Amino acid sequence: MPEPMTPVSFPPAFLWGAATSAYQIEGAVREDGRTPSIWDTFSHTPGKTAGGEHGDIAVDHYHRYRDDVALMADLGLGAYRFSISWSRVQPTGRGPAVQRGLDFYRRLVDELLAKGIKPAVTLYHWDLPQELEDAGGWPERDTAHRFAEYAQIVGEALGDRVEQWITLNEPWCSAFLGYGSGVHAPGRTEPVATLRAAHHLNLAHGLGATALRSVMPARNSVALSLNSSTVRPVSQGPADLVAARKIDDLANGIFHGPILHGAYPATLFTATEQLTDWSYVLDGDLAAINQPLDALGLNYYTPALVSASDAELAGPRADGHGASAHSPWPGADDVLFHQTPGDRTAMGWSIDPTGLHELIMRYTREAPGLPLYITENGAAYDDKPDSEGRVHDPERIAYLHGHLAAVRRAITDGADVRGYYLWSLLDNFEWAYGYEKRFGAVYVDYATLTRTPKSSAHWYAKAARTGTLPEVDEVF
Ligand code: FCB
Repeated sequence: MPEPMTPVSFPPAFLWGAATSAYQIEGAVREDGRTPSIWDTFSHTPGKTAGGEHGDIAVDHYHRYRDDVALMADLGLGAYRFSISWSRVQPTGRGPAVQRGLDFYRRLVDELLAKGIKPAVTLYHWDLPQELEDAGGWPERDTAHRFAEYAQIVGEALGDRVEQWITLNEPWCSAFLGYGSGVHAPGRTEPVATLRAAHHLNLAHGLGATALRSVMPARNSVALSLNSSTVRPVSQGPADLVAARKIDDLANGIFHGPILHGAYPATLFTATEQLTDWSYVLDGDLAAINQPLDALGLNYYTPALVSASDAELAGPRADGHGASAHSPWPGADDVLFHQTPGDRTAMGWSIDPTGLHELIMRYTREAPGLPLYITENGAAYDDKPDSEGRVHDPERIAYLHGHLAAVRRAITDGADVRGYYLWSLLDNFEWAYGYEKRFGAVYVDYATLTRTPKSSAHWYAKAARTGTLPEVDEVF
């Protein structure tokens, strides 16, 4: 007889949350003074997103936020991570704030607090005001200063009622997909601009953290969310280890090096020396970036598997968020990406909770004593309502169970993981993939915008309520 499984239980203070981002859910792109961001421009450029889809309406959260918060309360969520649309608050990316834009977030936060849900604010989830891109975007140093000004505005407006702050979401995607492979806004394909963007995003984080702290109560927590990859070599051979190191530097070290340790990895400079001399890293930048953090957010979906290659990479390649003829990885044309083993989600991403455990343990070593949050984890599947209008998503339940169990194992192994935010609360605009990829625990009918919690939402609600993972085959 198989052994009965031991129930997977979490510490009582563990935070059970869900995450979203502004452009993916809000809609109302022309209301209350909001101006276009790079994602408005990009999604309205023919050929950039699946079916030419865009976030003009998205799931209309801007008008339905009260119902959405009520839904979160029904699901027993303890926390909600959302992002602020910069161009709603500061339409030109500089100068005075628009109070009507800030008021939306004040109302949202008040609604959350009234229902006992902890708000976690992300300042930047990829939607740079278009005017700042027109002035050069993240490859330009001034954008980091503009971000600090914006951080201060939002900190002043919401710092009295929001305790959890995240400066940037996944700066890797902003730099490497936005300026490298071009599959994300603004769609540029310039290897050197990619590295400049990465540095200025780091600087924005540091200056932004300092600006937030200058206006907020000291009890508030300042963090950032990295989509740090678990990068594995196909073999322990020296060439494959060098390849894995290269990708690890470009995916992880380029951000956590300066942010956590005050230095870029020396191997990153060597790998990119044919492209750039890094002279845009000015005296004092590393100290400005290396601000103490109160927590670190990790976003995880799937690991990467790489090897050395003699051949120049050619042809379309998929690195997670879309295919492009341009590599997002400057200086790593000699690295080959392999299919990772295992079952896949609708994104084609392999399901491997061991990668999440590895990632958590790595950051437990990289940043001893720093509290960790899983600020995103989840899966897309081709969910469809049945004849009674219910949406059964056993694959998502299995995915969540596997990854939450990996988080629990990491806690047992000594990691200080304080909470988990499921990506995503609702089906939404999945960037270059449009609305086809459904990540929500709650199903959205795009014709009527009706919300229907999927079985996984009920499964997750029970986990949140009891602090223990229900079995994968429990019926909801
Ligand atoms: C992450 C993004 C999030 C969503 C998920 C699937 O990289 O932060 O907005 O697209 O992937």
